[in-house]
Amino acid sequence: MKRDLLSILDLSAEEISGLIAKAAKMKSELAAGVLPKSLEGKIAGLVFLKPSTRTRISFESAVFRLGGQAIFMTGQDTQISRHEPLSDMARVLDRYIDAIVVRTFAHSDVEELAKYASVPVINALTDRFHPCQVLADLLTVFEKRGSLENLTVAWIGDGNNVANSWMNAARRLGFSLNLACPPGYEPDSELFEHASRETNGKVRLITDPEQAVSNADVLYTDVWASMGQEDEAKVRIQAFQRYQINSRLLSCAPSHAMVLHCLPAHRGEEITAEVIESPRAPVFDQAENRLHLQMALLDWLIGSKEL
Ligand code: CP
Ligand code: NVA
Repeated sequence: MKRDLLSILDLSAEEISGLIAKAAKMKSELAAGVLPKSLEGKIAGLVFLKPSTRTRISFESAVFRLGGQAIFMTGQDTQISRHEPLSDMARVLDRYIDAIVVRTFAHSDVEELAKYASVPVINALTDRFHPCQVLADLLTVFEKRGSLENLTVAWIGDGNNVANSWMNAARRLGFSLNLACPPGYEPDSELFEHASRETNGKVRLITDPEQAVSNADVLYTDVWASMGQEDEAKVRIQAFQRYQINSRLLSCAPSHAMVLHCLPAHRGEEITAEVIESPRAPVFDQAENRLHLQMALLDWLIGSKEL
């Protein structure tokens, strides 16, 4: 039976831990020049309706490094631009390729593709979730901190797709997540209620960013206006002024706390140049881990199938 990855909630806690361990192992093997060619003869199709640097290139690189082939498509290249139903697209692509990696706007689009495709569908970002990002971030936290036990993450800024995926991760793994978002920009309320209930209140909304970071091991932020929200950018800049990760906010966090950002970053908005360029913010190690996590994911879903 095929497995999709549309949301972190598609995975059990054991599967998340298994993916992180597998990615860490594949990362050290890659550094030693050992590469399983487990995608030999396999083709992954990437359908991207939004721009991407990290996700696209790390997925293509992951496929190539595992001996497979990748085909990249934008909406404009395909009949999506002329409104071919996604249910048809899914049932055509699955005759040609072994996995579909999709970046789009409506989350229901990836659900529709997954419903009709007989091959795994991987969410490479929707307006609602960005699971591959947060799985790779967990690998980064695991590497830098040595464990995910007794972890507290402070989310500073917009309650967006990445924040939703962090809530889902906390729900599965049971770590603490302090969400500091301006009023009106909190994450999805239903997801929050579930996460808060299932973690006995460890997923919390804390409006004050200083309070949110005071006990955090990780400070995390993302752009104030996500892709598709460009028209709201000016209003958001006003609303988010207190929610910038800068030296003053960082001084309110424990001295061991690291700063993560999924990138791309807007220096001077959600994070200052001083903080993102400092050793406290290993954001390029974080970006690198997209490759390793997605190698593990592809190997699990369409390669060796082992976790
Ligand atoms: N973090 C991330 O998903 O980056 P891209 O938009 O460049 O893929
Ligand atoms: N929240 C951002 C993440 C970019 C990787 C967006 O959706 O644009």
